[in-house]
Amino acid sequence: MAGCCDPRGYDEVFGDGFARHVASRYRRRGLDRTARRLVDFLAEDDLSGASVLEIGGGVGEIGVELLRRGAARATTLELSQAYDDPARRLAEEAGVADRVHRAVVDIATSPDDVEPADLVVLHRVVCCYPDHERLLGAAADHCRRRLAFSHPPRNPVSRGVFAMENALFRLRGREFRAYVHRPQAMAEVVTRRGMRRELAHAGTIWQVQGLTR
Ligand SMILES: C[S@@+](CC[C@H](N)C(=O)[O-])C[C@H]1O[C@@H](n2cnc3c(N)ncnc32)[C@H](O)[C@@H]1O
Repeated sequence: MAGCCDPRGYDEVFGDGFARHVASRYRRRGLDRTARRLVDFLAEDDLSGASVLEIGGGVGEIGVELLRRGAARATTLELSQAYDDPARRLAEEAGVADRVHRAVVDIATSPDDVEPADLVVLHRVVCCYPDHERLLGAAADHCRRRLAFSHPPRNPVSRGVFAMENALFRLRGREFRAYVHRPQAMAEVVTRRGMRRELAHAGTIWQVQGLTR
């Protein structure tokens, strides 16, 4: 896989501090509730021999969990390199480091640099990317069996919160922006590519959609 760049300031927002926080939270408390929902959906079939593609996977804890449950190998794509050291340590501690691969690549703009996988997951990622159609389209095109992603609900509260956050990013001179894409539009990007929606969990803060091929 080729390297990539950080065109939208991901390194500034998702830097060393964020990466260390996520890794240490996972060590203390395991997966957050939404990530558990994603993993449970992805693990509904037999995982033996399965490959995992975690897009925007941060420290890669979802890949680690699926490897623990029997998946064969996991690839984590990121746009920020800040996660690399904590991710390596987590994989070593879990005894799965030889089955984990990481790459800095944007699958939406460089789809040919990424191998397809049986299971594809995006946790808290689509809301960090402006073009949900291109990102989820590439995710679905690379998915052989199951795809799951989380996203915030789209309502007046979430839109207000995201607008305030984006105003703060702008004031601080940061390039990064967060997005509240329409849940139905995101699902349709994937179903247009021949996948069927089997899970639509409407949480208050994070929602989960799960699709099968
Ligand atoms: C809010 S963080 C979530 C990280 C991790 N999934 C978690 O839940 O802790 C969003 C991450 O998505 C990554 N990201 C956004 N768009 C991406 C893309 N097109 N390809 C790869 N990574 C992406 C960003 O670099 C950022 O680290």
